[in-house]
This record gives sequence, structure tokens and C-alpha cells, in this order.
Amino acid sequence: MVVPKQKKLHKAKITEISQVSKTLYYIKFKPESLFESKPGQFVSILCPNHTLRRPFSIASLENNEIGVLFKKKGSGTEYMAGLKIGDTIDFLGALGNGFKFDKDKKSLLIGAGVGVAPVYYLKKEIEKAGGDNRLIVGFMTKDEVPSNMSFDEIATNDGSLGLKGSILDYVEQEIFFYKPDVIYSCGPHIVLKTITEIAQRHSISSFVALEKVMACSIGVCRGCVIKLQKNGTTVNASVCQDGPVFRGDEVLWQ
Ligand SMILES: Cc1cc2nc3c(=O)[nH]c(=O)nc-3n(C[C@H](O)[C@H](O)[C@H](O)COP(=O)(O)OP(=O)(O)OC[C@H]3O[C@@H](n4cnc5c(N)ncnc54)[C@H](O)[C@@H]3O)c2cc1C
Ligand code: FES
Repeated sequence: MVVPKQKKLHKAKITEISQVSKTLYYIKFKPESLFESKPGQFVSILCPNHTLRRPFSIASLENNEIGVLFKKKGSGTEYMAGLKIGDTIDFLGALGNGFKFDKDKKSLLIGAGVGVAPVYYLKKEIEKAGGDNRLIVGFMTKDEVPSNMSFDEIATNDGSLGLKGSILDYVEQEIFFYKPDVIYSCGPHIVLKTITEIAQRHSISSFVALEKVMACSIGVCRGCVIKLQKNGTTVNASVCQDGPVFRGDEVLWQ
């Protein structure tokens, strides 16, 4: 059995839980000990009767209270959706590398679906540092948009809220008008691949937060390995430990 580093293992009390859209829940929990994290890092939550912990991006951290935005998918997230204020959870974190940002660079942040979570946290941290940023997000329909978060621009595929179409339809326009120095994104694989291609076409650096099915979440099982291209050489990297944030142009997209 893998024994995680003790400082990463926490118990926390649920302080808030609510359904924030037709498909999404927002849960807040307060660890007993001081917790520190960066945007892009994640927590891995133990769900009773499940061997594998479930990984979730940190969407907020304020007053030692962690926020996670999640979509009910299978039995693990079903358990999480049923948690009540005062319940105790066991989690590992903060895991992974997280985003690095420079407050003096203009940052375009892009989130698709539940992928808004880490870029939302990144926006808050860039704002605290006094940096210029713009967060644009995409959902299928207005019923999916979380009611507890605010964004600079929203696109919905069916046009029921904000701009009509995929958020990808608006990235070039944002580049033209906002002129970002760097793009940070999180969402489905195809969205991140496309954003990376657009960023490369415009010679803008881009960083993506990837998702991969994880077993251990701490760099031991090698189940989450992807391939990167670095200085002309192909290397393996684990999403849970070397990532989940990578330079978009280094990922060997499939
Ligand atoms: C770094 C990272 C950050 C994530 N952040 C979020 C987030 O902020 N909000 C959110 O809703 N979801 C997030 N996910 C996806 C989330 O982990 C899965 O939706 C969740 O584990 C599903 O568990 P389940 O038991 O409900 O579903 P099931 O489908 O029953 O899960 C079965 C197994 O597959 C794994 N799995 C299923 N879907 C995914 C997935 N998309 N990615 C990784 N593993 C998966 C589960 O962990 C579990 O081991 C993230 C995943 C990763 C890797
Ligand atoms: S999930 Fe085990 S190495 Fe990443």
C-alpha cells in the first residue's frame, strides 16, 4: 500500500455544500491544520468503500477553507453530493505542480465546463497580486453555469446565455482585442489541444491543466503518464506529480 507523506493527508469538516447549477455542486471544507495551495493544484478525496481516491481541482482557498466545484458523475461524486455540513472527509493535498503566473503579464484564462475551477482560482490569485487578466468560459447551456461564480465572458453552445457557440469560436477574437501575453486553460482534452494550436499560431505561451484517470495521485503507480516533447526528445511525465499543469506546446497531443 502507498503511504502518502503525512503532511499531505488531511481531515476536514464540510462547511458548505450546494448545487450551483443543474449539473454542478460546490463544496467547501476546512482542514484541521493550516493548508496551502496554488491554483492548478488538486485534492484527492477518499470516498468510503472506494479504493481509489477521487481527484478534484481546488477552485478556491480562503481562510483555510477549500472550495471544490464538481460534477456528479459516478458513485464517488454521488457520495460527495450527499455530504452534509459538519461531516468529516479525508483528503490528500495540495497535489501537483500548479500554475505559475507573472502579474506583469496579461493573462487570458479559459475554462470549459467544470474546467472553470482551477482557472477561477487562478484569476483570484492574479487579482490579489494586481495583475491584468480576463476569464472566459464555455458551457453547453445556461443551466450548467455555476451561480456562485462570475466570469468576464460566457459562451453557451445553444446560445441560451452569453455568446452563442463553443468557447473555441471566440479565442482568436480575444487574442485580437485583449492581446494576452499568456493563456491558461482547463477543460476537455480537445479544447486544450485546440487552444494550444491557436496559441502557437499567434506565438503566445500557453499552459494547460490536464485531467487523466488517477489511481494513487502521488506519482507512484505511473498510471497517469503522458508524453511530452522537450528539446526534441520525447519524455514521460506523470499528470499527478509533474502536472497537472504543462506547457501546451510540450504536450504530445493525441
Ligand atoms: C487533476 C484532476 C482534476 C480534476 N478536477 C475536477 C474538478 O474540479 N471537478 C470535477 O467535477 N471533476 C474533476 N476531475 C474529474 C474527477 O476526478 C472525476 O469526475 C471523478 O473522479 C469521478 O468519480 P466518480 O466515482 O463519480 O465517477 P466514476 O466514473 O464512477 O469513476 C470511476 C473511476 O474513474 C475515475 N475517473 C472518472 N472520470 C474521471 C476524469 N474525468 N478524470 C479523472 N479520473 C476520472 C475516478 O477517479 C474513478 O477512479 C479532475 C480529475 C483530475 C485528474
Ligand atoms: S496517479 Fe499514480 S502516478 Fe499518477
